[in-house]
Amino acid sequence: MAVNEAERHAMSRALELAANGPRGANPQVGAVILSPDGDVLAEGWHHGAGTPHAEVDALSKLAPGAAKGATAVVTLEPCNHTGRTGPCAVALIEAGIARVVYSLDDPGAVSGGGADRLRTAGVSVEAGEQTDAAHALIEGWLTAQRLGRPEITVKWAQSLDGRAAASDGTSQWITGPAARADVHRRRAAADAIVVGTGTVLADDPALTARDGDALYDHQPIPVVIGSRDTPADAAVHRHPLPPLFYDTRDLHAVVADLHARGVQNVFVEGGPTLASAFIAEGLADRVLAYVAPVLLGGDRLALTDIGVPSIAAARRLTIDEWVPLGPDLLAVAHFTEDLTEEGTA
Ligand SMILES: NC(=O)c1ccc[n+]([C@@H]2O[C@H](COP(=O)([O-])OP(=O)(O)OC[C@H]3O[C@@H](n4cnc5c(N)ncnc54)[C@H](OP(=O)(O)O)[C@@H]3O)[C@@H](O)[C@H]2O)c1
Repeated sequence: MAVNEAERHAMSRALELAANGPRGANPQVGAVILSPDGDVLAEGWHHGAGTPHAEVDALSKLAPGAAKGATAVVTLEPCNHTGRTGPCAVALIEAGIARVVYSLDDPGAVSGGGADRLRTAGVSVEAGEQTDAAHALIEGWLTAQRLGRPEITVKWAQSLDGRAAASDGTSQWITGPAARADVHRRRAAADAIVVGTGTVLADDPALTARDGDALYDHQPIPVVIGSRDTPADAAVHRHPLPPLFYDTRDLHAVVADLHARGVQNVFVEGGPTLASAFIAEGLADRVLAYVAPVLLGGDRLALTDIGVPSIAAARRLTIDEWVPLGPDLLAVAHFTEDLTEEGTA
């Protein structure tokens, strides 16, 4: 049975409701329960990991029996597994829901399959309503689901001759104001920003996302990796979010921990040692290289050993975009080969 006008309208509303939920380990999901006449009976959304899913949140607002014969309009396929909460497909069946309209299939190997379960129980199920909007809403979560970890972008600024710092270690600033403003805009879209202790000790970065002097509303969690101590008066301690310190070189463990904390995308901002380690470990999806028309010479290269012994093993990239930024040029690229499928480089 095709999706009707009331259901289409309810899906738009469910997408609005979904956006009320937090971005994190679980997807943002919204739900609207409609009477057989198309009237809104209840609304709900997912308030974050460990709390009821959107469908159950909406059902909880109805008196027992009130959902009999009703339609549930949900932005994501109702789940089919027992995690911290029970399967939503079962909750809908038990509530007497006669029809479910949802947007995106649940990509989870364990949580997927809710639609089949509903159909088997005799519920009419319609998928694929307003998928573009639903996809845009939870794109970061979907990517993290596909990769099994957050999406990782490695960013650096370099001179035209490929250096990330001058011989004495100073690197502020290689690029101009337009390039630096672009970095801050992109930081504001990231969940976490990662540096090594080398950068903390050399540059004392604030690791905030700033629009001029003002902080962007969304700030990435600052992350420092390495065993050397961060000084007590380091700027990172004044970040609005508490920094995470990892005394390890095991980047896979760090990334897994960030994933468990609900981080969906990570911005690695150097320096050369850490950037190279992420790339060598196959833990990089995208590169942002800001290239400035300046020469620095010396041996402080933008990247060090990335595990490429000969040209045959070169890590090839595909350019998504060349962005002119004042006198500088930004290359936005992704790795042509997908090492994440195989595990490591
Ligand atoms: N141009 C740019 O975009 C840019 C950006 C940032 C920094 N920089 C410049 O880069 C220089 C600092 O470079 P850097 O390479 O020392 O900084 P870094 O990459 O930020 O830090 C290196 C440190 O990261 C830790 N680390 C954590 N996991 C690691 C792993 N898997 N492998 C290796 N090390 C790991 C180690 O710390 P422990 O030894 O403490 O364990 C290592 O010494 C400065 O001159 C700075 O100005 C330039």
